[in-house]
Amino acid sequence: MRRKIYFADIDFSYIFAGMMTKELIIQKLQLLPHPEGGYYRETYRSSEEIGAPWLPKNYRGKRNCSTCIYFLLSSDTFSAFHRIRQDEIWHCYDGSPLWIHEIDRDGKYCKTLIGRNIADGQIPQYIVPAGNWFAATVYNPDDYALVGCTVSPGFDFLDFELASRGDLIKAFPQHIEIIAQLTRI
Ligand code: GUN
Repeated sequence: MRRKIYFADIDFSYIFAGMMTKELIIQKLQLLPHPEGGYYRETYRSSEEIGAPWLPKNYRGKRNCSTCIYFLLSSDTFSAFHRIRQDEIWHCYDGSPLWIHEIDRDGKYCKTLIGRNIADGQIPQYIVPAGNWFAATVYNPDDYALVGCTVSPGFDFLDFELASRGDLIKAFPQHIEIIAQLTRI
């Protein structure tokens, strides 16, 4: 638990952004463990829906039009390779830059550094195309990254697939090292 610093009845402890810890963010934003690793909370789910007949054939059932989550990842872990049916838009909010690792349908691997230091070449927003396998790691040691992830149609775990290490290596043997590093099952 963080020690609070009081002066003249004012709590200054949250003024120092550097003092924000992963635990404090998890507590304040009420985040829960995500199956891919890291912590999340859904912040938006549109009340409007898209009916099954108007969705691409690979969806089963209706979906909300859009959803958004907070996602927090720390450098002692990783977001494991997974894929979803939707494009996913990542937004950077706080902490370290983040590497997004992708393997596309043709087996091409790329990694992209997302973050708020635009002068350093980082980009604050990034879109992972639907169907790409992707994973994430925190750039700074001993740090965390707080991001947002928005999808449309809205998220449903029916559209989420966590990669099996063996299957992914069988499909993309040329990427065995990064797959072994960023899978758990
Ligand atoms: N809601 C629950 N999990 C996820 C996720 O991995 N991505 C998005 N965009 N929303 C989610």
